[in-house]
Amino acid sequence: MTIQEEIRALKESRDAVILAHYYVEPEVQELADYVGDSFYLSKVAAGLQCKVLVFCGVSFMGESACLLSPEKEVLMPDPAADCPMAHMVTEDEVLKYRGYYDDLAVVCYINSTAEIKSWSDVCVTSANAVDIVRRLPQKNILFIPDKNLGRYVAAQVPEKNVLLVNGCCPVHQEMQLAELQALKEAHPEAAVCVHPECNEEVTALADYVGSTSGIIKFASASKGQEFIIGTEVGVLYKLQAENPDKRFYFVETTPICRDMKLVTLEKVLAVLKDGGSRVTVPAELAEKAKKPLERMLALAK
Ligand code: 13P
Ligand code: SF4
Repeated sequence: MTIQEEIRALKESRDAVILAHYYVEPEVQELADYVGDSFYLSKVAAGLQCKVLVFCGVSFMGESACLLSPEKEVLMPDPAADCPMAHMVTEDEVLKYRGYYDDLAVVCYINSTAEIKSWSDVCVTSANAVDIVRRLPQKNILFIPDKNLGRYVAAQVPEKNVLLVNGCCPVHQEMQLAELQALKEAHPEAAVCVHPECNEEVTALADYVGSTSGIIKFASASKGQEFIIGTEVGVLYKLQAENPDKRFYFVETTPICRDMKLVTLEKVLAVLKDGGSRVTVPAELAEKAKKPLERMLALAK
């Protein structure tokens, strides 16, 4: 039996479903039942009827699935796969702003720990942040922890007073304007598509700014043939599968999320065999942390 056949057989016998983010290795995406961006995966996780969820992504994703579906066994192929940005704000910062403003909504990017979610009023993903912030009744918005997505949202919703903290995704933040400009010179016809986690200079140069699935949709719907992609390189698998005749260019210092790449087929097989690495969130914390996630799902409908 191949490893893929073994995983499929165990999936069947354990009533398991495999979810994968676009940034994990192609062979894991190929085997998964559902592949998508953070928003899509959180929606799918909340609606599935299976007993076991194998989450091929980083820990905040498994944790969110566990908060939205506490009755399911959520397994992470590698519990060490974590998102550094998911920790980049303190409770003191949140409390400080809550003290300054009566009319404040704390808006938490889904890329955050359950604890950070529990201090917040509503979660967002890169696919729905602008729309949700626009629809909140509060004028003052504390956007945590990603300063880049927060800055992008602030520019799209100028009627709000958006306050930022200092978190960021190292993979997207470090993408350099000069590298994108060099690509643009080499491929002048290519449309520049970047993720809002990128720094300000990079998003300013882009023809399209959007979530991972937004970039895939944009490139697939476009009549253009060439695209400069400013996000994690794992997205190339889906871009190329949907658009075999189009060309996609990434910056020379390839953007790779090392945490996402910790997920391998061998580890997927191992968790299905021994059930290790189950995600758990203490009940009291889960009660508070699931509310902003549920509010996001309700607002994003
Ligand atoms: P999206 O899945 O919302 O595009 O976010 C990208 C990301 O960094 C996930 O960790
Ligand atoms: Fe976190 Fe960035 Fe990796 Fe996404 S790409 S999981 S935001 S470090």
